[in-house]
Amino acid sequence: MTARLIMKMKVAAVAHEPNNVTVYTLSHPLRDRLADPHPGAHVDVRTPGGQIRQYSLCGNPDDPSVYKIAIKREDGGRGASRWFHENLKVGDTVLVTTPRNNFALNLEAGRHILIAGGIGITPFIAMARRLARRKAEFTLHYCAKSSHAPFLAELREICGDRLVTHFSDVPESRFNPVEALKDALEDTHVYFCGPQKLTDAVREATAGWPEERVHFEVFAPTLDENFNPEPFDIVIGSSGKIIRVPANKSALDLLRAEGFALPSSCELGVCGSCVCTYRDGIVIHRDSILKVSERQDKMLVCVSRARVRVTLDL
Ligand code: FES
Repeated sequence: MTARLIMKMKVAAVAHEPNNVTVYTLSHPLRDRLADPHPGAHVDVRTPGGQIRQYSLCGNPDDPSVYKIAIKREDGGRGASRWFHENLKVGDTVLVTTPRNNFALNLEAGRHILIAGGIGITPFIAMARRLARRKAEFTLHYCAKSSHAPFLAELREICGDRLVTHFSDVPESRFNPVEALKDALEDTHVYFCGPQKLTDAVREATAGWPEERVHFEVFAPTLDENFNPEPFDIVIGSSGKIIRVPANKSALDLLRAEGFALPSSCELGVCGSCVCTYRDGIVIHRDSILKVSERQDKMLVCVSRARVRVTLDL
């Protein structure tokens, strides 16, 4: 676990895309070179009220002088996107972390199939730019309500005929994951991000694929609302100390109360900041991002729990 640097960044430009999407260009007042904006990476952005949200970097991955993020206004959401839309303007300062990449391209792959739905398109802008620059073989499937979709002109310019659009108001263009994946070879990697219906469909279509060839990004938790938490014990590996986690608290809460300075961001199991290594014990994984192989020894302590007891490498 490494805490990420939090920077005070300036809003250098604001632009608007269709469907209530605003693009913010962020620069650092003192540094003209930022940590590399690797394709697929996201930053955490904080509102003055303390809400933290993850946004993919959607600018040019070869330009580390600025970060670009796109925020879709969600009026039915928890309020952060509305705050950004209503308040953030050119010249303002905003707290932003250095990037984290849970959605990196595998540049060894022979072919890449990128599948985006709605605002899930944002990480793919930089990914497509990088793949196009490397002359890699790729296809980007973009599912949107209509041709009045964010970033469409930019994507057409980047991807050319490697962009395949699927618009809800054009029924014959409907996205079919089986069709999209039908030419996949053994060295093809698939990447997807978007609404749950889309990601579930792609997961199903890739169920038999080796997990290292399947990459996804989520920004909303897929927590089961019927889950009934039970108390459990954490054993601290280095000291043997036992910490009881009651049903109404998270492991993260209790570890912090015991003095462990654990980083966190989303506290929803979608960003990976709070990952801990464990040994012994049966973990009830409730995050939305760890792969099956990672779940053998890693847990996200903001949401995941254990049956009876788990030993953490702390
Ligand atoms: S804080 Fe984001 S996954 Fe735990």
